[in-house]
Amino acid sequence: MKHILIGSCIVVAAYCNGFLQQDDVPSIKQTTVAPPVCINDLSSYANCDAVTTYHFHLDAFVDFTQSAIGGNQTLNMTSLKDGLNQVVIDYQGMQIISVLEQDQTTGAFTDLTSACTHYDDANLGSALIIPLKNTYLKDSNLTLRLQYLTNLNGKAMSWLTEAQTATKIMKYMFTQCEPIYCRSVAPFQDTPSIKSSYSANITAKNPYVVKLSGREREPTVNANDNTTTYHFYQDIKIPSYLFAIAVGNLAVQHIGDQYSRSSVISEPGVEFLERYANELSELDELLNATEAWMTPYIWGNYTILILPPSFPFGGMENPLLTFASPTIIVGDKSQVYVATHEIAHSWTGNDVTCRDWSNLWLNEGFTVFEERKVSAERHGIDFALREAQLGNVSLWEDMRVFGLNTTYSALYPVMNGANPDDSFSNVPYEKGFQFLTYIEQQMKTPADFRRFIQDYVLAHAQTSITLGGDSSPPNFQDYIKATDPQLKVIFLNRLLARSTEVSVKVVAKIDADLNCTGEPNPEIGQRWFPLTIQVGYGKALAKAQYYVSYQGRLKYLQPVYRALVDNGMRDTAYQWFLLNQNFYHPIAVDSIRAIVLQSHSPSQYTLERISYAMQRFW
Ligand code: BES
Ligand code: ZN
Repeated sequence: MKHILIGSCIVVAAYCNGFLQQDDVPSIKQTTVAPPVCINDLSSYANCDAVTTYHFHLDAFVDFTQSAIGGNQTLNMTSLKDGLNQVVIDYQGMQIISVLEQDQTTGAFTDLTSACTHYDDANLGSALIIPLKNTYLKDSNLTLRLQYLTNLNGKAMSWLTEAQTATKIMKYMFTQCEPIYCRSVAPFQDTPSIKSSYSANITAKNPYVVKLSGREREPTVNANDNTTTYHFYQDIKIPSYLFAIAVGNLAVQHIGDQYSRSSVISEPGVEFLERYANELSELDELLNATEAWMTPYIWGNYTILILPPSFPFGGMENPLLTFASPTIIVGDKSQVYVATHEIAHSWTGNDVTCRDWSNLWLNEGFTVFEERKVSAERHGIDFALREAQLGNVSLWEDMRVFGLNTTYSALYPVMNGANPDDSFSNVPYEKGFQFLTYIEQQMKTPADFRRFIQDYVLAHAQTSITLGGDSSPPNFQDYIKATDPQLKVIFLNRLLARSTEVSVKVVAKIDADLNCTGEPNPEIGQRWFPLTIQVGYGKALAKAQYYVSYQGRLKYLQPVYRALVDNGMRDTAYQWFLLNQNFYHPIAVDSIRAIVLQSHSPSQYTLERISYAMQRFW
């Protein structure tokens, strides 16, 4: 792959001829050592405790001849600690061609490509580990430039043929980045815990039209190669999942009068753009109504882009440019509430953002709550109540499918390294809505709660937040000071009280810091072993068995056996019991037997084992 220099940017040589070329480039070495995940978001490998992106600039070409995006992603970053010498970036479905570090004084680039390594994870994509040439002090800035070319494995992009579009004369490409697919459009610190402004120059062959979730400047027509470069910028800091691109045969129609802030974009034609604009004729009134209920709208204009029918969601709240499915255009305006929902995300989601995907309900639950307030005003309270009733049915159906014992049925699902899409359901929407409705009812008047929501949005504007879960307050390291056994017990009690929120990673870290598994004090084992069994921290299992075998105090035995039975390990409990029952006092034998055999529908295997054991011992 050749590189050429245009102005200050290095671009793929072939880019300028109107298409991208993938030559052999030395590939980045793979490592099997997983880097730690982001401390604020288990779905990203970004070392976000050490470095954060404050602006990104994407210079890219959208090539329909090979369904690829290629270009340069420039990350303007700030070091969050003294001695920063490594950056980890998320990517998926692309080839990283080169990695450059820019000198902050001379502007010169150093090629770091050969020193980089990548780690691949089946759920989260790849981590690009970049050892820096320079070492950075806390609060100093650094600039990285990554040249890349996407391939067809990328999860965010959908490439449509002419036949798959409405007007059938041009191809079409659109992205869907939420929750973790932005990393396949370009390399990113792909976590909602980081927000940055951006600018982008996106080039495509004429007459393709490019739209992004940002403000547009005048495009540049490149006379030499029959392409146009579209320029965008987004000054309000956004999380990466709100980055969006659509390219195709696109036209714009303004909605409402000259003062209106709203527009619709889609493929042109009476059957498409005109029909969509008619259905969405009240878009500006919806925006005004939401703004009146909430606080001022910060984003400027509001546009809905109606995509081809394969768009996988009803709507996606990309800032300034909601993406929506044509299924919301029914003819009778009965699905326009989807637009109300996406408009409401302009406050909760796009301004106040969930810090990680376990906190998705902060986006969706609040947004559904606001959506139904506006719907009640505009379409009557019965419309909103029926939506809530329908939502409740969907909520229970999803919980039934997940099972009531998994955190996926809870407001705060614990992902433990799974793809956040595995936990996606109506739960964050409807349980979130019901929770907020419940709190509203505890207030003197609904107006008090409305004021709370307004204050909440203003207080957390343009930040990413969490309400508990794996949240790490700034002094979280203080627990290491719990060297005294009593303090450890107090700490473990608190942890047990919120054990459904504890991940196996957190348990592993605590064990590394406090060595709870090796702790001789039995009061610690009484709490620690049940916790490790519950979260599936296998490393402690042998010690847990020893714990119930070297002593027979009931208060120490019962929690361990109960944890095994409650977490699908009844057979293990039974095995341990068999091995120890001659050692246990008869009172303990009765108690533990009752726990191990407590009412359940035992597998055939278990039944056989029990009857065999009974013949032998009783
Ligand atoms: N942001 C969501 C869609 C989403 C959530 C995509 C999580 C990927 C991961 C969007 O705002 C949404 O909720 N859309 C709903 C609309 C409905 C609730 C009115 C949809 O598409 O059905
Ligand atoms: Zn939503």
